[in-house]
Amino acid sequence: MPAKPSHPAAPTDGPRHVALIMDGNGRWAQARGLPRAMGHREGVQALKRTVQAAPALGITCLTVFGFSTENWSRPAEEVSDLMGLVRTYVASDLKRLEREGVRVRILGRRAGLPADIAAIIDRTEATTAHNDRFTLQVAFNYGGRADIVDAARRHVDRVLAGEATGPLDEQALGAGLSTAGAPPVDVIVRTSGEQRLSNFLLWEAAYAELVYQHVLWPDYGAEALADVVEQYRNRDRRFGGRAAPNAAPALAAG
Ligand code: IPE
Ligand code: IPE
Ligand code: MG
Repeated sequence: MPAKPSHPAAPTDGPRHVALIMDGNGRWAQARGLPRAMGHREGVQALKRTVQAAPALGITCLTVFGFSTENWSRPAEEVSDLMGLVRTYVASDLKRLEREGVRVRILGRRAGLPADIAAIIDRTEATTAHNDRFTLQVAFNYGGRADIVDAARRHVDRVLAGEATGPLDEQALGAGLSTAGAPPVDVIVRTSGEQRLSNFLLWEAAYAELVYQHVLWPDYGAEALADVVEQYRNRDRRFGGRAAPNAAPALAAG
C-alpha cells in the first residue's frame, strides 16, 4: 500500500494566490475596551492561523497587507506598535515557517524602516529563500502607487545602464514590481467590512476577484479563508472575454 501523503491532495479549481487586507484590529480592540495594540497583537495570531490553513485549501501564495505607506500618519505610538509586529511575528514563527517550507518575501520600501526591522526582513528573506512549498508575501511600508513608481524608475535605470532598450511595456513594468515572480493574484480579500483597496496591489488588482468579509482581522482563520475559496469558485472570470458556456447569466432577465 502506498504511504499516506503528509498533505492531503489539494483542490485545483480554487485560487492559488490570495491577497488579504488585514483590517479591523483597532475596532476589535475597541469593542473589548482594550488598547489598539492588543488588536494588533491578536492580528498576528490570526495571521499565523491563516498561513497554516492556506495550503490545505490549495493556496500556494498568500500576500498580506501589514503596513501601508499611509499608515505613517498614525500616532507615533501606534506606528511603533505596528513596526514591532514584524519582530513579534518573525521571532515567534520563523522556525515553524522554515520547517514547513514557507518562503517569506517582504514587499515595499526598505528605506525609512528602522534599521533593526530592515535587518530582520533581510535575514528572514535570506533564511527562507530556498523554500518552495508555499510563499508568504508581507506588504510592509508598501503602497501600490509607490511600487509602480519604483518599477518605472527601475526600468529607466536599466535603460540608462544599457541593460534594457525599447519602450516600457506591461511586461517590463510588471517585472520591476515587488510582486514579480509570484503567481497572478486571483483574489483580493478585505476584512472588517470596508470596501476599498487603500493603495494595495493596484497593478495586480486588474482582474483579481474582490471579496469583502465582515469579520474583523483578529477573528480571522481557517473558516473565513475557506469561505473565500468557496466564493471564488462561484465566480466566472472572463478577463474581458465571453462567459464560459455553462456559466449562470450574470443578470436575471426582465
Ligand atoms: C488593520 O487594523 C491593521 C493595520 C492597518 C496595520 P486597523 O488598525 O486599521 O483597524 P481599524 O480599521 O482601525 O479597526
Ligand atoms: C489598510 O488599512 C492598510 C493595512 C491593512 C495594512 P487602513 O485601515 O490603513 O486603511 P483605511 O485608512 O481604512 O483606508
Ligand atoms: Mg483600518
